[in-house]
Amino acid sequence: MASFTINGALHTFDGDLEMPLLWYLRDELGLTGTKFGCGIAQCGACTIHIDGAPSLACQTPLALAEGREVITIEGLSPEGNHPLQVAWRELNVAQCGYCQTGQIMQAAALLQDTPNPTDADIDGVMNGNLCRCGTYPRIRAAIKQAASKGGRL
Ligand code: FES
Ligand code: FES
Repeated sequence: MASFTINGALHTFDGDLEMPLLWYLRDELGLTGTKFGCGIAQCGACTIHIDGAPSLACQTPLALAEGREVITIEGLSPEGNHPLQVAWRELNVAQCGYCQTGQIMQAAALLQDTPNPTDADIDGVMNGNLCRCGTYPRIRAAIKQAASKGGRL
């Protein structure tokens, strides 16, 4: 029996620990905010945090998450009011929205490490998170707006 802390709650699982964490989050726990984009580490749509570090849930077997703290978009802010989420809404960042969970989770990790990122910092950290709708200018603006207001919960 493996156990995981997900968004602050303890969960146990006695199935195959080679199953990707993304499957467990979406299909077992119903945490569908984390998206399946490519399944091959090429898009960033499935970005979550493991022990505070951005990680690709599609590439993380459950065995690697055992005993660790996982945060998904549902747990980033209980009310959905992380400074990034507020900025995302105020600047209407999303277009189709599919990539945006991963973008916000990646950006949240960026602001944890770099509270006032430069354009180069943002580009360097965010370049693995693809957006087919081309919302990159609004993503960058929202990260800067969130940073200007403290950036972290
Ligand atoms: S779904 Fe995980 S990187 Fe694309
Ligand atoms: S908003 Fe459509 S893929 Fe990014």
